[in-house]
Amino acid sequence: MLARALSCAVVGLDGELVEVEVDIQPVHLRQMNVVGLPDAAVQESRDRVASAIRNSGLRSPMGRITVNLAPADLRKEGPVYDLAIAVGILAASEQCPADDGAVLLGELALDGSVRHVQGILAMVGLAARRGIRRAYLPASDGAEAALLEEVEVYPVSSLAELVDHLTGAKRVEPRPPTRVEPERDPVGAIDFRDIKGQEHVKRGLEIAATGGHNLLMTGPPGAGKTLLARALPSILPAMSSTECLEVTRIYSVAGMLPSEQPLMRLRPFRAPHHTVSNAGLIGGGSQPRPGEITLSHRGVLFLDELPEFGQQVLEMLRQPLEDRIVTISRARGSTTFPANFMLITAMNPCPCGYYGDPSRNCSCTYNAVSRYQKRISGPLLDRIDMFVEVPRVDYDHLADERRGEASAEVRRRVERARLVQERRFTGTTLRTNAEMTAVEVRLHCQQQLEPEARASLRAAMDKYALSARGFHRVLKLARTIADLAGSERMTAAHVLEAVNYRQRAEAG
Ligand SMILES: Nc1ncnc2c1ncn2[C@@H]1O[C@H](COP(=O)(O)OP(=O)(O)O)[C@@H](O)[C@H]1O
Ligand SMILES: [Mg+2]
Repeated sequence: MLARALSCAVVGLDGELVEVEVDIQPVHLRQMNVVGLPDAAVQESRDRVASAIRNSGLRSPMGRITVNLAPADLRKEGPVYDLAIAVGILAASEQCPADDGAVLLGELALDGSVRHVQGILAMVGLAARRGIRRAYLPASDGAEAALLEEVEVYPVSSLAELVDHLTGAKRVEPRPPTRVEPERDPVGAIDFRDIKGQEHVKRGLEIAATGGHNLLMTGPPGAGKTLLARALPSILPAMSSTECLEVTRIYSVAGMLPSEQPLMRLRPFRAPHHTVSNAGLIGGGSQPRPGEITLSHRGVLFLDELPEFGQQVLEMLRQPLEDRIVTISRARGSTTFPANFMLITAMNPCPCGYYGDPSRNCSCTYNAVSRYQKRISGPLLDRIDMFVEVPRVDYDHLADERRGEASAEVRRRVERARLVQERRFTGTTLRTNAEMTAVEVRLHCQQQLEPEARASLRAAMDKYALSARGFHRVLKLARTIADLAGSERMTAAHVLEAVNYRQRAEAG
């Protein structure tokens, strides 16, 4: 007897259909083989499936069972095929019909209960694109799968429940769609109003959040750099529903989706420690998995104490910062992950931290300061749009009881200026000014310069000997500053403020 069931693999961030064929030869022994490039975990599903079938009050059929997973050239990993294999066996032994218009996803426990698997959204998304309209999957993953409306989601908690449904003995109700609701009001994040002084840093972060610009903060220990960076999520624009789904798919594949909440509703904010491995930051592994830069997609990657990160790690950031994707090459082919993030970094100016501080003496030698700053390579600095000094706040500021402007106010301005960008980039894949290429810079920046802005720009280019890249960065920044001011035209004031954020780079 031959039966078929459909399942799915996760490849990169996408799904790929896997056909499970089960053939039973009626010989007088019990034997099961799995073929079609299965890894060890898939081989082990023989035992899990056999036990699950017996412990569900069903018959483990006599004979030589061959399970073939197709396509044969795709390496099958993990326990996701258990459910399809079990139903294939039961269909081949005429204990229930197989539903060939559905995908079956789930790991089986020995007692027949159906367990959570990673990457549900990616797999159900693929099924939807292939015209498959039903999915049977773990009850715990139902809410996640139901984010996609195109597929009817049948959450099952045990093999017996699924068999009853397929035989018609007792139907399982499909789950109503899960609503995709982005979080509009981030709670828990540090609020700008509780950070005293540092108005120019807050202004810098507001501009960065608006245009998606990369930013480096430099200042002595205790100046509030980490605090300011951690407050950034409170002013980031809310994600769109599409962005929520995009980010959720990444976290689902990474196995990092909280089970009680199947949707990433807030922009990611990732702050990996400087001991992070290359693979941890960039992504990697034999079956490549997303790293921190992909987990930061559509959000923020915060690298605190930047010089402490290994030089090799920082070098690896260059390409993704440029391309906003990362490609991980393996002998068996390469995988591409999205990596469109905003880079926020912080550092002390020297090993002791007080170089250039007006109130304390720096104890570092000139060479030590220079070595420290050189740990950040020129090419990485080249990809940072804004340089902001964070001085220590004095006692009077810290003791001031008055609260500053609330993050919610700032966020309103950021979101307004994001709408302007959305309209500007309609019909393209761009979302923020930072993503503009030379073509868009000419169109949306150079052609919008007021005459006196042109003159200021020329003066700045001469004074700081701006590189071509620096020149583009100033224009993009000035574009964002003008957007915040609600102005399509770019004035000298916009350009001069932008130039201010470039000084360290151009001087260094
Ligand atoms: N401007 C500020 N307003 C309120 N508290 C501050 C401010 N700056 C620093 N602090 C306090 O000092 C602590 C140390 O700041 P931190 O962000 O760790 O400094 P840095 O990262 O620059 O070394 C913060 O946790 C916070 O309690
Ligand atoms: Mg710090």
